[in-house]
Amino acid sequence: MTPAERIDQLRRSIAHHNERYYAFDAPEISDADYDLLVRELSALEAAHPELASAASPTQQVGAGRLATTFSEVVHRVPMTSLDNAMDVAELEAWGERVAKGLAGEAPQFVCEPKIDGLAISLRYEGGRFVQAATRGDGRVGEDVTRNVATIADVPERLPENQPGRLPQVLEVRGEVYLPVAAFERLKAAKEQENVERIAAGRKPEPVPVNPRNAGAGSLRQKDPSITAARGLALWCYQLGEVVGGRDFTSHHETLEYLRTLGFPVNPQIRVVGSLAEVVAYCHECEQQRHALGYEIDGVVVKVDSLAQRELLGFTSRAPRWAIAFKFPPEERTTLLKAIEVSVGRTGRTTPYAVLEPVFVGGSTVSMATLHNQDQVAAKDVRPGDTVVVRKAGDVIPEVVGPVLSLRPAGLAGWQFPTVCPCPLRSELVRIEGEADTRCVEPACPFQRDQRIIYFASRVAMDIEGLGESTVFQLSDAGLVSDPGDIYALTREQLLTLDKWGETKADNLLAAIEASKSRPLPKVLTALGCKGLGPAASEALARAFGTLDAVMQASEAELATTDGVGPIIAASIVRWFADAANRAFVDKLRAAGVEFGRVEVRRLPQNLTGKAVVVTGTLAGFTREQAEAAIKDRGGKSPGSVSAKTFAVVVGVEPGASKVTKATELGVPVLDETGFQVLLDTGELPQAGA
Ligand code: IVH
Repeated sequence: MTPAERIDQLRRSIAHHNERYYAFDAPEISDADYDLLVRELSALEAAHPELASAASPTQQVGAGRLATTFSEVVHRVPMTSLDNAMDVAELEAWGERVAKGLAGEAPQFVCEPKIDGLAISLRYEGGRFVQAATRGDGRVGEDVTRNVATIADVPERLPENQPGRLPQVLEVRGEVYLPVAAFERLKAAKEQENVERIAAGRKPEPVPVNPRNAGAGSLRQKDPSITAARGLALWCYQLGEVVGGRDFTSHHETLEYLRTLGFPVNPQIRVVGSLAEVVAYCHECEQQRHALGYEIDGVVVKVDSLAQRELLGFTSRAPRWAIAFKFPPEERTTLLKAIEVSVGRTGRTTPYAVLEPVFVGGSTVSMATLHNQDQVAAKDVRPGDTVVVRKAGDVIPEVVGPVLSLRPAGLAGWQFPTVCPCPLRSELVRIEGEADTRCVEPACPFQRDQRIIYFASRVAMDIEGLGESTVFQLSDAGLVSDPGDIYALTREQLLTLDKWGETKADNLLAAIEASKSRPLPKVLTALGCKGLGPAASEALARAFGTLDAVMQASEAELATTDGVGPIIAASIVRWFADAANRAFVDKLRAAGVEFGRVEVRRLPQNLTGKAVVVTGTLAGFTREQAEAAIKDRGGKSPGSVSAKTFAVVVGVEPGASKVTKATELGVPVLDETGFQVLLDTGELPQAGA
C-alpha cells in the first residue's frame, strides 16, 4: 500500500469511528486502539506534507458535523480538543515547547484529572441557566438543555451576593459523567433484565460496557426523564464566553470563582510550580484512579497564567498551553477466538475466553474469565466476536461484552459443554438454583491436578517451584496423583523429566521438605476442604490449636468459632467424615508433615468482634505483626474501611482513600500510640490523653 492509500484508509476508518463514538455513543474500538490509528495518520501526514488536508480527522475536533435529532448550537468560543502525551517523555517535550514559547519566563501549571465523560458547555445569562450544548465538531454542538437541566450538580441560578457583578454572559465548560456506582447499578439492572429475557425465550439487549458510553447515552436521550433517572454528575474545568463581570489573571482564579458560584470543581486539582511536580502529580493520580468513584483516563495539564496562555496560542485543533497526559489503556478491543471451560479443584467449571493477545492494563492478555454459564448468556459473547477486554489495575482481565455492530452475519451462539473437557469426558451437572456447572467425577484428572496446584500454592503449603506447569508435567509423567504423592518424589524420578537438571530437582525437593513444617493454618488451608480458606483456617487454628482438636470438634463447636459459621462447619465435618480424606491426612502425617501447633488464646480477648483497619507504615510493627496483634486479641483486621469498622490505625504514607473514608463515615482514626492503648485496653484512647 502506498502512503497515500494508507492515509486515505486511515481517514475513512477514523471518520467512521468518530461517528460511532460521538453520534451513536457506541464505539467499535477502544480509545487506545483509536489513538493508535490517529497517531499513525498524524505521523504519515507529517512525513508527507503534500498529502495534508484540512478535511483530515487530524485537523478536526470530535465527529465533524453530525446528523442529529437535537437542534444546533453555535459555540461563540470554540470547544477545542487537546493534544495527547502518551508517556512522560512526550509530556516533557511539551514542557520544553511551552518554556521555549514563553522565552524563559517560567510557567506555573494547573494539573487536573482528565474526566472520561462528555464535554459540555453551560450558558448562563443574567445569572440564569439558559442553555447546555455538547462539543459537536467544536464549532457547532447539540442543544441538550432539557436533559442537562435534570442533573443535580448543575446550578439553575447563580448567587447574586458575590463580590463584583455577575457577568451578563457566563459560559462554563466541563465534563458530564456517570459515577462508577451509578454505572454499576445501570449495568446490573440491564443484566437482570437480560436474564429474564433469556428465561422468557427472548433475545438479550446490549449491556452498557463502560461509564463513558453509558453516560453519553444517558445524556443524549430524547426523553429527559430517562436522563434524570440515571444519576449523571458534573465537573467544571474551564470558562468559555464571558461578557462583563470581574477580570481574572490565572486559571486557578477562574476555578475558585466557579466554586464560589456553586459549580462543582474537582478537589483533586492542584497548582504546581514545575514540570517535575507535574510528572509526580500524574503518577499519584494514576495510582488513585480507581479510588475516585468516577473514571479518569489521564491528567490535563494547563498553563496557569492567562497572559502566558495568550502568548502560546493555539494550533489548528488544540491549545498549545494545555496537554492531556494519557494513562496506559485499561480497555482494548480484540477478537474472541474461542470459549473454553476450565475445571477447578472442586469440580466447578469456569468458562473463559481465548483471545487474540492484546496489551491492556499493563500486560498482554490472551485469556479472560467469563465467570459462569449465565454470564456468557447475559453478555451474549460468541466465538468470532470482537469483544471489549478490560483489565484495571491488579484486577483480573475481564471480557466486558461484544461489539455488536462488528458481529459477522450468522455467527452462532455458544453452548455450554455437556461433558468435562478431561480425558474421562464425564457428564457435567448443574444443580438447580446454583450458578455453577460441575464435574462430579472423583477421579477427574483435571480436578486432581488443580488440587495439587492449590496444595502447593502460596496461601497453602507455599512450595516454590511447584506451580501449574510443573504439576502438569509431574501428573502427565504419572508421578503424582494426589497432593500427598509429592512427598514421595525422588531425585531420580525428577531427573527423568524433560528439561530437568540437578539444580532444579534439588531445589524442588528442598522446597517440598521445607513445606513439612508449615504452621497449622497453612496446612488446614492446603487440605482443600470446601469453604476452608486462609481466613477460616487461621480462625480454627487459633481456636483449637491442633489438627486433632479440629477433627474432634463437633459441628456446633466449629460453627461458633468467630469467622467460621455453620456452612463451613458443616463442610468441615463432612470432609473429615470421608474415609478417603482421613487417609489423605494420614498419608501427609506419615510423610512427615508436622501440622504445627498453635498457641491458643493467651492474650485477653479484648477486641472480640471489633474490626480494626491498619494503613501505612508503623514504627513498632510490620503490617503482619499489627494484624496479628489485633487477631490475637480476638479482633479482625479487614483490608477496607466500612461503617462497621471500629477504628483505623494510620501510619506513615497511609492509603488516602482509607483515611478519607474513615473521616466520611466518622470512624475513629488512631496513631500508633492510640493503637497501643487499643491493644492494651480494648478501648479507644480518651481524647487529650
Ligand atoms: S480542558 C481548551 N480539562 O478531554 C481546553 N478537558 O481530550 C479544553 N476533559 O474535550 C479542555 N477533563 O472533554 C479539559 N480537566 C479537563 C478535562 C478535559 C476531561 C476532556 C474534554 C476535552 C477532552 C480533550
